[in-house]
Order: sequence, then C-alpha cells, then structure tokens
Amino acid sequence: MSTPDLLIVGSGLFGLTIAERAVAEHGAKVTLIDRRPHLGGNAYSEADPVTGIEVHKYGAHLFHTSNPRVWEYVNGFTDFTGYRHTVYTTHQGVVYPMPINLGTVNQFFRAAYTPDEARALITEQAGELAGTDPENLDEKGISLIGRPLYEAFIKNYTGKQWQTDPKELPASIISRLPVRYTYNNRYFNDTHEGLPTQGYTAWLERMADNPNIEVQLETDYFDASQPLNKDAVRGNIPVVYTGPIDRYFDYQQGELGWRTIDLETEHLEVGDFQGTSVMNYADAEVPYTRIIEPRHFHPERDYPTDRTVIQREYSRFAESGDEPYYPINSGSDRETLLAYRELADAEPRTLFGGRLGTYQYLDMHMAIGSALSMADNKLPDLLRA
Ligand code: FDA
Repeated sequence: MSTPDLLIVGSGLFGLTIAERAVAEHGAKVTLIDRRPHLGGNAYSEADPVTGIEVHKYGAHLFHTSNPRVWEYVNGFTDFTGYRHTVYTTHQGVVYPMPINLGTVNQFFRAAYTPDEARALITEQAGELAGTDPENLDEKGISLIGRPLYEAFIKNYTGKQWQTDPKELPASIISRLPVRYTYNNRYFNDTHEGLPTQGYTAWLERMADNPNIEVQLETDYFDASQPLNKDAVRGNIPVVYTGPIDRYFDYQQGELGWRTIDLETEHLEVGDFQGTSVMNYADAEVPYTRIIEPRHFHPERDYPTDRTVIQREYSRFAESGDEPYYPINSGSDRETLLAYRELADAEPRTLFGGRLGTYQYLDMHMAIGSALSMADNKLPDLLRA
C-alpha cells in the first residue's frame, strides 16, 4: 500500500465531501478509513432483508437545504424525489398534525379559530407566568405556548427524549416553540427537500467512486495493528479526522456528553401500519418517542403490499460504547470542548471536522456545507504542509 496524500478518518458525509474535493480539486490520492463495515456514516441505509424496504439504519434521515451551493453539489451525485416530510403526533388516542399549527390548535380545542383568534388565545395562555423568569424547561415551555399545548405536546415528549422531568431540565434547552397560525404542516421550510431517488447508499458510494479514493472499512484509527493508525500517521501524513474529538485525545480532558437512540425493528403482516412515515407519541405512558415506517419515505416505489417494517425509537443518555448521536452541550461540556479545541488547534497536520470532530449537531446539508468550506479554506494548506 502506498502512502496517501491525505488520510480521512470517518466516511460520513463530512469525510466523503473532503475526499471528493481533495481528488477533484487537488488531484490528491486519498485513503478513507471507517471503523464500521460500511461507508456513509449515520446517513447509511440498506434494504430490509424481509421486506426489501429501504431502512435508515441509524434513524430517519430527511434531506433538506436552502444552501444553493450544497444543493448543486449533492445533485452531482444523486437525483432527489419530491418527498415532503410531515410529522404527526398521537396524544391520548388522538392524532394531531405537527409542528403545532392552526390545524393542531383547532383540533385540540375543538374549535374553528381564525389565525388571529388562535394567536390571541395562545398569547393569553402563555401569559400565565408573565413577569417571571423561567427557571426550568417546564416554565419556559408554558411561557412560550401556554400550559395546555405545552403539556399535551411538548412536556412528556421532551421528558422522554431526555429521560428527565422537564422541571429538572434547564430552560435553555428550548429557545422557541414555533406555532404556525396557518394549516401548513410541512415539517421543513427549506427551499430544497427530497430523498435520494436510488437511496442514500447509492448516493454515498458515488461520492467515493474514484480510483484516487481508497476506502478501508472496519479500520479503526486507534487500532495500532492497522498501518494507518494514529501513532504511525500523526505529523507524517495530512489527516482530516471526523471521529469523536474526546476519543482522539484519550479523554484526557474528560468525556463529552451525548444522547443516543435505540431502534427496535418489527415486521408486520400489513401493507401499511400507520399511513405516514413518522408518528410521534407525546404521552409519558408510551415508552418510545416515535415510530418510523420507512415505506412512506418512498411512495413512488414498488414495495410489497402485504408486509411492512417499523422502527420504534427510544431516546437515552449515551454510555461508553454507545453511538454518540446528539450533543448534550451542558455548561461543563462546553468547557471541556474548549479545552479539546485548544489541543486540536495544536495538532500537527490534522484538521477536525464533522459532527463528532466538532461536537455539534449538524444536519446533512450543514455537514456537507462545512466540509466544502474546509475544502476551500484549509485543505490547500494542509495538503501543502
Ligand atoms: P457521521 O457520524 O455520519 O460519520 C462519522 C464516521 O466516522 C462514522 O462512520 C464513524 O464510524 C467514523 N469513525 C468514528 N471514529 C472512527 C475511528 N476511530 N476510526 C475510523 N472511523 C471512525 N440530518 C439531516 O439532514 N436530516 C435528518 O433527518 C437527520 N436525521 C438524523 C437522525 C439521527 C438519529 C442522527 C444521529 C443524525 C441525523 N442527521 C440528520 C444528521 C446526519 O446524520 C449528520 O449530518 C451526518 O451524519 C454528519 O456526517 P459526519 O460525517 O459529520 O458524521
């Protein structure tokens, strides 16, 4: 194996974008390693073996962006369907449209309010705690949308996401709870939205489909037995590292906090379980936060009509060995991150990127956008160094 011009650790959308740009713009020879048995990071999907339905292995992934450069870039690798995401929520045996909109408000209060009437009602209900400073998430929620809607749709759902009573959670977790005073229940407001026509994996593999990109799977950067490991590479080959920043430095400043999810898959002998792709469960008695039925991501496909697959999603704090998904970002996490950032800045010939490398929740379009910026601004110097 010849020494690459650039080693990329992690084949998620950040690593793939850097790899593709390094080859296209600099003619570099790139090796892309990933400890998982497949490329694509968390956006990876595969055909469910029982039904053939495309399943997002690490949780539902919906592509959306208002960034014209990112949209043009991704369209170089895949077409997108016209899928428009909507979410519903079940509360006490009744299904409501999400995010909270005029339809939700009218159904909940069994009314026919106009937009102005609904706005006046919610403002009045939100005034319950007027003049006080919210001390926790519960009070913040009530002060934003009033107690009835908050307690029905936000309180227990958020409690399940955090496995914590919202009275014990900091008010800062939510800055706003949008209520739409129209019947528009499109989940995303972005200019562009859709799902990759041939699936995520076809898209992700196309990004790496170049003779100058060598992909090595089941290869961990910290495994001393593989040749391109950290001790062998550090300072000798330019590296873009997209794994967890705390792991890179052997947790010397402490571990950063993450939430993770567990997905419980079930096959059912019905053609359609819930009539939509994502159904939230707002009540505390239901232990999962939502059910995903992936067949609805691709209504245009010829999926079986007598079988379906669903994923129940449970949320919890990540422990060591779990997949880190959503940064908790507590005050102490932010301090720890600053200490790691200083170390990262001093790291020879190594750039840190992506959601794990920067400890930031990034949607796919943000991960791609930030990789394109790194390719513009930092990659030329890294490759020259
Ligand atoms: P990503 O995590 O994808 O890739 C990092 C890779 O590094 C992984 O493959 C990992 O195995 C590898 N790695 C780590 N350590 C390593 C080591 N030591 N050696 C080798 N390899 C190593 N976005 C969106 O736009 N719409 C959506 O609907 C969703 N939905 C969603 C649901 C859930 C549950 C999550 C967790 C995330 C989303 N996202 C999303 C976000 C999306 O997943 C995210 O934008 C991309 O994964 C970011 O790509 P990265 O390359 O940064 O990380």
